[in-house]
Amino acid sequence: MASRSRVRISSLLIMLSIIGLAAAESGTTEEESKSEEFVVTLDHSNFHEFVSKHKFIVIEFYAPWCGHCKKLAPEYEKAASILSKEDPPLILAKVDANEEKNKALATEFGVSGFPTIKILRFGGSVVQDYKGPREADGIVAYVKKQSGPASVEIKTAEDATSFVDEKKIVIVGVFPEFSGEKFDNFTTVAERLRSDFEFGHVLDAKLLPRGELSISGPTVRLFKPFDELVVDFQEFNVDDLVKLIEESSVPLVTLFNNDPNNHPFVIKFFNTENDKAMLFLNFSSENIDAFKSKYRDVAEQYKGKGIGFLLGDLEASQGAFQYFGLKEDQVPLIVIQTNDGEKYLKTHLEPDHIASWVKDYKDGHVKPYKKSEPIPEVNNEPVKVVVADTLQDFVFNSGKNVLLEFYAPWCGHCKKLAPILDEVAVSLENDADVVIAKIDATANDIPQGTFDVKGYPTLYFKSASGNILQYDGDRTKEDMIEFIQKNRDKAAQQESGKDEL
Ligand SMILES: *[C@@H]1O[C@H](CO)[C@@H](O)[C@H](O)[C@H]1NC(C)=O
Ligand SMILES: *[C@@H]1O[C@H](CO)[C@@H](O)[C@H](O)[C@H]1NC(C)=O
Repeated sequence: MASRSRVRISSLLIMLSIIGLAAAESGTTEEESKSEEFVVTLDHSNFHEFVSKHKFIVIEFYAPWCGHCKKLAPEYEKAASILSKEDPPLILAKVDANEEKNKALATEFGVSGFPTIKILRFGGSVVQDYKGPREADGIVAYVKKQSGPASVEIKTAEDATSFVDEKKIVIVGVFPEFSGEKFDNFTTVAERLRSDFEFGHVLDAKLLPRGELSISGPTVRLFKPFDELVVDFQEFNVDDLVKLIEESSVPLVTLFNNDPNNHPFVIKFFNTENDKAMLFLNFSSENIDAFKSKYRDVAEQYKGKGIGFLLGDLEASQGAFQYFGLKEDQVPLIVIQTNDGEKYLKTHLEPDHIASWVKDYKDGHVKPYKKSEPIPEVNNEPVKVVVADTLQDFVFNSGKNVLLEFYAPWCGHCKKLAPILDEVAVSLENDADVVIAKIDATANDIPQGTFDVKGYPTLYFKSASGNILQYDGDRTKEDMIEFIQKNRDKAAQQESGKDEL
């Protein structure tokens, strides 16, 4: 569903900003593409044939305009060159999912943002999300591990010590012998969850650190770097075991700071369907312990009730603050983002306020929060400035034909478009029914279900009667004016029934 994929995108965006990946985005430098030799380029004509011949292949779906893709490209290429020397060689491929003719492939693989990386196994019959790092060494290590067995045998205490990493979730099946239905089911679970967790199996539980040394009967032991540190399951129904593992692998409170070891849990936090509560404060401040314990109590109270909890250090949260339009002097603060994109905010929080505010939120007594730049005092340039607080009046209720550009301040293509948009606006300045406008989409919330902004610049046209069209034409003055003239005056005839906003 469209609304659902939009939610995923916004979660993804905040996650990227929160772990600082978005900060590197830049549209200003157009790097010359180096001669790429090791990454295989696939398209609609050869994709299925190529994939069907491989037991294991990694595919990146990218778009030429996507900054994260450009940043990934040299790392991906370097990883491909290293992995090509494996025996058998491991293949990294890419598909330009922006190409019209490849769009069916993008749909087939549910590509809703860029880059999307998938691992295809057994000729494409099994598809998994790539959840590994984005720099060359990390890609190599992750891909090597993914191409091996889903669960590795632990034979010695040394194996066990190096396998049970202090910083990661690892899952070990303890079996009296490596056969039988329970073992097979464990292997199935390992196959299914292998892109998220590391799996091992062992004959003797005494080799394992932590937990009871003597285990009777087949047991699945999950090691984690938070909360109770070790959990044992004796459930072997595949779906039930998957569910238990998923539930146990989310911390009661996800910690977000500059430690990259926490980032996988932050990603997991944003990938759940839960509402997301995020408390930000300065971890060096005095009353941090009071916040931690009160917040934990609240998290415990709402466990399993559809809210996830994250505690973020101000030092690491510039991305999130920008995303939410928050200021450092508002901390301690808590913000809740719901699955349908609404946001709720309480600034200058005190430890004793947390429980009552979350309860008020749950009871529907807190009003949603909208990020907006201040309304400009003067707005007399040819291209008008729209902010979240003026979007309704300026665009939806103005009764005018509005061409609206969604831009980002760092986006190079937006900078290129600016003078052209200016010329369009100047040409149409005497036409009182036409408005050319722009909104900084990074500093203003776009209401859910209105405009679908996936990249910058995005141009939408709203006719006087409320028809909404995305402008996909050439970014030239002539084409844009022609488009406006062609689509504007339908207004009068289509007055009725188009008020879907
Ligand atoms: C193995 O998994 C299947 C499918 O989930 C289930 O029907 C079966 O009961 C499981 N076996 C055991 C021993 O739990
Ligand atoms: C956090 O608090 C410490 C100690 O009061 C202070 O030195 C530091 O500047 C603060 N950090 C931020 C980002 O405000």
